[in-house]
Amino acid sequence: MHGFAYKNGSLFCENVDLQTLAETHGTPLYVYSANTILDHFRRLDQALAGIDHEVAYAVKANSNLSVLRLLAKENAGFDIVSGGELYRVIKAGGDPAHCTFAGVGKTRAEIEYALQQGIYSFNVESEAELRYIDQVAGDLGVVAPVAVRVNPNVDAKTHKYISTGKSENKFGVDFGFIEEVYDRASKELKNVKLRGLQMHIGSQLTSVDPFVEAVKKVAPLATSLKEKHGIEFWSIGGGIGIVYRESLESGAQDWWDKKADAERPLTIEEYGASIMPLIKDLGLNILLEPGRYIVGNAGVLLTHCLYEKKGTAKTFKIVDAGMNDLIRPALYEGHHEIVPLKEPNAERLKVDVVGPICESGDFFCQDRELPDFQPGETVALMSAGAYGFVMASNYNTRPLPAEILVDGSTATVVRKRQTLDDLLVGEL
Ligand code: LLP
Repeated sequence: MHGFAYKNGSLFCENVDLQTLAETHGTPLYVYSANTILDHFRRLDQALAGIDHEVAYAVKANSNLSVLRLLAKENAGFDIVSGGELYRVIKAGGDPAHCTFAGVGKTRAEIEYALQQGIYSFNVESEAELRYIDQVAGDLGVVAPVAVRVNPNVDAKTHKYISTGKSENKFGVDFGFIEEVYDRASKELKNVKLRGLQMHIGSQLTSVDPFVEAVKKVAPLATSLKEKHGIEFWSIGGGIGIVYRESLESGAQDWWDKKADAERPLTIEEYGASIMPLIKDLGLNILLEPGRYIVGNAGVLLTHCLYEKKGTAKTFKIVDAGMNDLIRPALYEGHHEIVPLKEPNAERLKVDVVGPICESGDFFCQDRELPDFQPGETVALMSAGAYGFVMASNYNTRPLPAEILVDGSTATVVRKRQTLDDLLVGEL
């Protein structure tokens, strides 16, 4: 399959020339490959073939309605973290009965909305929340399906801001206490049904070992909860990492496939093969909650180079996208390859690529050897499909970029660029 590739010297998304898209729709511009998204979803689904399972896409990674619609048509489940995400999923044709609702701070309004829509399960993050859901369900005269999130105290070995499975993280209930929480709930709470168990140890994991460690540690708990309380599912979370780093060689024909072959630390086949033996005989419906794996490498952010500034210490390439459009480098020191749309020659220059925002953290790379590009040219920030647009803001009163979904030779605007008037909506 083809995601992003040079063809006749120009970078394409599937069969669409990115330069033409940038000229037609302006920059900054997010572009997604529909077939890459579908391919990733199907590969993950395939990795668990043979057991009762569901791939519940983590909506937070990329919540564009058209992306959700693609996955809804594949009968994906959805992992949501707010009433807003549930609303989007429903608007996109997703089935609430295949939605799990995570997050440490659900409000009454969100709990009521999710109960009215008939979600599959709340993934509950504390005993206090469990009691509150019981109370709200009782007030509505319904029974709330719940799973409690276990914090297994396993080190995911990822960036500290996206590590969630250690005791010092705010997520889930400590492994040592969780069984008592189920026991108390089954005795005392009449308006909840103990439907499952959930865990998620972190994001952008590049080795299968922490997954294996966590699944091995928690599997006996899942078995015991099934026997004692009749739970039917175990969500083992998301977190499968993707490759962000790849030096683009001159003459590369297919950027996406090369990337997949070159440096991939964790393949989906390896993930499936390592996890399957540990879960296949549990007799539970196994849920996965992948976000980044499905959409991360399926998207790029196109940005136009405005100026070059040479100082005594550095050469800066100033582009029209900023940290408000893609915050990952500023927030997590995230690495995104920067690739000219015109296929470059072998020459490399050390540069900082920076945005227009009034903050020193507004950079996409520092002191990185890049193929040379000049003001007037457009470059692609690769692997920007997950946690890209969804984390964008209007900081510095900058309109949000447009989003395009490419399917074969068709490019569709799936979100219009904000106008200056849009920026003032709701203000007095
Ligand atoms: N399930 C739960 C409960 C989660 O909290 C998350 C992500 C996922 C699933 C999906 O994880 P994934 O498969 O995408 O790794 N903004 C950060 C990532 C934050 C992840 C938050 N939770 C970044 O740009 O790296």
